[in-house]
Amino acid sequence: MTKDYCTAPVALAADHGGFALKEAIKAHLESQGIAYRDFGTHSTESCDYPDLAAPACDAVVAGECSVAILCCGTGVGMSICANKIHGIRACCCSDTFSAEFTRRHNDANALCMGGRVVGEGLALAIVDLFLNTPFEGGRHTRRVEKVMALETR
Ligand code: RB5
Repeated sequence: MTKDYCTAPVALAADHGGFALKEAIKAHLESQGIAYRDFGTHSTESCDYPDLAAPACDAVVAGECSVAILCCGTGVGMSICANKIHGIRACCCSDTFSAEFTRRHNDANALCMGGRVVGEGLALAIVDLFLNTPFEGGRHTRRVEKVMALETR
């Protein structure tokens, strides 16, 4: 199966709370030859996570990027923002099981993590599972379609 991230770069974004984790993810993607676009932030200076989440998610919805990986202090603020953007299905993950199954069952296209929650090793394992696990389809297609229909209520 062709992996989406082979055909379009991964969108990366973080606020100051997730900056260090984003930088670690960048190095991890580079080591595997996976292309990415870095939507910032570019330092540990305090900033507002909605300002970083929106452009990265917009790029996914536009098809310019395959999926988004968004980091803040908890991952929660980023996931709240991402899920408000039509076309995004974001999961806030701090375990590998959720990372695998949000791809298999939810066809998630945004992964959110907390730089103050997960260690680097676990975060990179979560990234690998998220990027390498295909959507199962089948009965989950109907459920994902119902999820997306909630955007038009
Ligand atoms: C910033 O201090 C922090 O609130 C932010 O990174 C994030 O955790 C919000 O959900």
